[in-house]
Amino acid sequence: VEIREASLPDELLVLRQMMNAYLVEFDPESDPATYWDDGYFAACQEGASRGAIQILFAVDAAVPVAFIIGRIEDLWYRPSLKLGHIEEIYVVPTYRRRGLAKSLLSRLKLQFRDRDVATMTALVHCLNPSALLFWLPIGFEIQAYHLFAPL
Ligand SMILES: CC(C)(COP(=O)(O)OP(=O)(O)OC[C@H]1O[C@@H](n2cnc3c(N)ncnc32)[C@H](O)[C@@H]1OP(=O)(O)O)[C@@H](O)C(=O)NCCC(=O)NCCS
Repeated sequence: VEIREASLPDELLVLRQMMNAYLVEFDPESDPATYWDDGYFAACQEGASRGAIQILFAVDAAVPVAFIIGRIEDLWYRPSLKLGHIEEIYVVPTYRRRGLAKSLLSRLKLQFRDRDVATMTALVHCLNPSALLFWLPIGFEIQAYHLFAPL
C-alpha cells in the first residue's frame, strides 16, 4: 500500500465516495450530499491549490483505500504560529488495523513540519469515542470540550 498525495480535481470523486461511506458508517440516516456537499469539495480543491489543505491517499493496486485531510491555519492572534488540523481520517473497514492511519498521519506530519506547523489538532465526534483509541496512544491528549449551539 502506497501513501501519496491525492490528485485533484481528478480524485475528488473517489474522495467523496470514501467520505460518503464514512458518514453512513456513523449515521446511516444522514444524507452525505447535504453534509459534505459540493461546497466542501470545492473548498478542498481551492485550499489544496494554495497549500492550505493537504489530502493524502493510501492506495492499494491503484485503488484508494484510506485518506487523510489536513488543514493549516494561522493562529488568529499570532499569525506566526501555525496550527495543523486533521480534518478527517478514514480507512476502508477491510484495511483497518494494518497501520494505514498511522502511516497517513506520519506523512501528513512531515508536510506540516515543512510548513512550520507547531501544533496539531484533531476533532473527535462524541458519537465516535472509539476513535480515541487511535489518537490517545500516539501523543494526542484531550485539552478541551468543543461546544456548539444553534442560533
Ligand atoms: C480510526 C481509524 C482511522 C484507524 O485506522 P487504522 O488504519 O485501522 O489505524 P492503525 O492500523 O494505524 O492503528 C494504529 C493503532 O491505533 C489503535 N487503534 C486503531 N483502531 C483501533 C480500534 N478500533 N480499537 C482499538 N485500538 C485501535 C491501535 O493501537 C492500533 O495499533 P495496533 O493495530 O498495532 O494495535 C479507522 O478505524 C477508521 O477509519 N475509522 C472510521 C473513521 C474514523 O473514526 N475516523 C477518525 C475520526 S476522528
